[in-house]
Amino acid sequence: MPEFRSLNSKDIDEVMRVWNSLSEHYDHPIGGDWNAKKLYQEIQSKKSLAVFNNENRLEAFVFYVDMDDIKEITLLVTDLRQHRTGAMRSLIRSLISDLNVDEKIWLEVHAGNLPAIGLYESLGFKICGERLSYYNDGAKALLYEYNGSEG
Ligand SMILES: CC(C)(COP(=O)(O)OP(=O)(O)OC[C@H]1O[C@@H](n2cnc3c(N)ncnc32)[C@H](O)[C@@H]1OP(=O)(O)O)[C@@H](O)C(=O)NCCC(=O)NCCS
Repeated sequence: MPEFRSLNSKDIDEVMRVWNSLSEHYDHPIGGDWNAKKLYQEIQSKKSLAVFNNENRLEAFVFYVDMDDIKEITLLVTDLRQHRTGAMRSLIRSLISDLNVDEKIWLEVHAGNLPAIGLYESLGFKICGERLSYYNDGAKALLYEYNGSEG
């Protein structure tokens, strides 16, 4: 059975393995300039949800900030070998199922990141804004939200 849990600092090697599986795979920036130090800080400073397989290998993870009535996702990644197996859908659905009716999930995405956009729209996220020339390649960011009242 897969295990769902938050990340801790002992998971940094697995987080880096997953990150390295895809960091050179895309020609658009993935949500910022991530490296080992920043990912380690993220584990320590943000909330997270991750799924591990039977062999305790990390398949996918999400970092988010939990504010009063908003959960803002800062990074979500699935191991390249696990793409399109439903790993990230299960993590985001878990966050959605914990939302109260007056809570929202926010995130932003590079306008060219079609896999991520496909994921968010399939889960019922709606565009709520955009930031022009937001990424270092000049692309805009699309802002998405999910309202707990929709659940
Ligand atoms: C975006 C990402 C997290 C999706 O993770 P995933 O675990 O492969 O997604 P899932 O298997 O849970 O897919 C769920 C749904 O999302 C959509 N989706 C996922 N990948 C897609 C793709 N390549 N093209 C179009 N839609 C896609 C589909 O609707 C899919 O459902 P389906 O397979 O039944 O059609 C993954 O592609 C990834 O790690 N990308 C690199 C990191 C990144 O860009 N993160 C987002 C910015 S921080």
